Amino acid sequence: MKLRPEEISSVLSQELQKYDRDLGVESVGTILQVGDGIARIYGLQDVMAGELIKFPGDIFGMVLNLEENSVGAAIFGEDTHIKEGDQVTRTGRIAEVPVGDAVIGRVVNAVGQPLDGKGPIASTQTRKIEVKAPGVIARQPVKEPLMTGLKAIDSMIPIGRGQRELIIGDRQTGKTAIAIDTIINQKDSGVYCFYVAIGQKQSTVAQVYRTLQEHGAMAYTTIISASASEPAPMLFIAPYAGCAMAEHFMWQGKHTLVIYDDLSKQANAYRQLSLLLRRPPGREAFPGDVFYLHSRLLERAVKLSDENGGGSLTALPIIETQASDVSAYIPTNVISITDGQIFLENDLFYQGVRPAINVGISVSRVGGSAQTKAMKKIAGSLRLDLAQYRELQAFAQFGTDDLDASTRRQLTRGARLTELLKQPQYQPLTLGQQVSVLYAGVNGYLDEVPVEKVLDFEKAFHEYMGAGNADLLKGITDTGDLSAETEERLKAAIVDFKASVAY
Ligand SMILES: Nc1ncnc2c1ncn2[C@@H]1O[C@H](COP(=O)(O)OP(=O)(O)O)[C@@H](O)[C@H]1O
Ligand SMILES: [Mg+2]
Repeated sequence: MKLRPEEISSVLSQELQKYDRDLGVESVGTILQVGDGIARIYGLQDVMAGELIKFPGDIFGMVLNLEENSVGAAIFGEDTHIKEGDQVTRTGRIAEVPVGDAVIGRVVNAVGQPLDGKGPIASTQTRKIEVKAPGVIARQPVKEPLMTGLKAIDSMIPIGRGQRELIIGDRQTGKTAIAIDTIINQKDSGVYCFYVAIGQKQSTVAQVYRTLQEHGAMAYTTIISASASEPAPMLFIAPYAGCAMAEHFMWQGKHTLVIYDDLSKQANAYRQLSLLLRRPPGREAFPGDVFYLHSRLLERAVKLSDENGGGSLTALPIIETQASDVSAYIPTNVISITDGQIFLENDLFYQGVRPAINVGISVSRVGGSAQTKAMKKIAGSLRLDLAQYRELQAFAQFGTDDLDASTRRQLTRGARLTELLKQPQYQPLTLGQQVSVLYAGVNGYLDEVPVEKVLDFEKAFHEYMGAGNADLLKGITDTGDLSAETEERLKAAIVDFKASVAY
């Protein structure tokens, strides 16, 4: 038979044209080993680091280790039904959470699923939990204040919108209390709040929810909870999830506040995860990249430039120390990343100085440029008076009889101011209230008031001002300034008030 090459080649090319390779390519791996919330998987050659993968039973996981013959992944949920030999599929996506108005007022877990029994999150938008922080060009310096409503902080450790201010102290020193008061104080400020509870008891988180609700703060707040009973991967990603939810609003030009309560527990969860993934342990058995764990999170706190809408994300990370040891690994890391820190001390707390802030060693490195003029006028002398007081206190322990008059005056003033900076929980003050009462303090109007009566004095003073001088307070709050004229009125009001009370 004679072969006709052109016929064969035309048939071949026809066949080739018709050939449509319609294969659904799905990358599937097999579990080699599973346990403690970690799985090692064989066969996901092309998977990305940080990619979401799907385990049987609709449980998701996240790829953390890319090794030569296998990948290591964390499982977001119960791993008891997952066994060796099960199949795992790629999703091609990085972990995301729902964002937008639908999450406001809700309590969700680290992957954005509802925990409050109020039905599904009706959100159409999602956002990647891990994104690169905005660069230098997209930013501008911090310039607006973020008022906590706490006298001690707003006057001496002012926080600006877009700042990262660390709250650090032992357990039970009032760290969470400061965060909650700050959220409550954002009521009319238009700041969206995100409270990320990491490794806390569920009952504690429920208590926070109730408190915020009682004070009407859930109207603008989202709680992201990864409680102590949840698997370590959930604790590890919870802060990034909360940050992503806030970023969504920030990029719309809104102001946001995120509280990470607390990052020590996140670091511990990450250590657990890393050790199970057999990453080499370093200092205190933390993996080598534990600094990056926190720096990439806190770098996402930003004040955006006006071209980018001018939104902001303020971060208040919390670190719990052991026996006031701030030189441990994680505390020093986070201190070096943040723009200042609020130190809380056990001793002060038990002496009744609450909030138990050590104002001597607490700082805010950028917030000063955002502080209102009215507060600035007072803060300078307040800080100086208290610093002198701390120095003299050491002498005063031996008795005040043979001290000269000016030293005694400083001791009197310092004791009154220390008393004046105390503040009960859930009672944030407006700028006007803070400025007026601190003005009285630093200008000596409280010097004759007995120390134990200072807080009564303050209470009565706020009532008096609220009744007869509400416009004066409002003027200070709204303008943020204390003009010469307002100052005269304030002085007159203080003198009037003092005449009306017997101290
Ligand atoms: N300013 C305050 N005045 C009175 N009690 C306070 C104040 N701040 C905190 N507390 C109380 O101190 C306890 C510990 O506070 P919390 O914020 O839970 O501490 P932490 O978060 O540091 O463990 C709580 O019972 C809280 O009500
Ligand atoms: Mg706490």
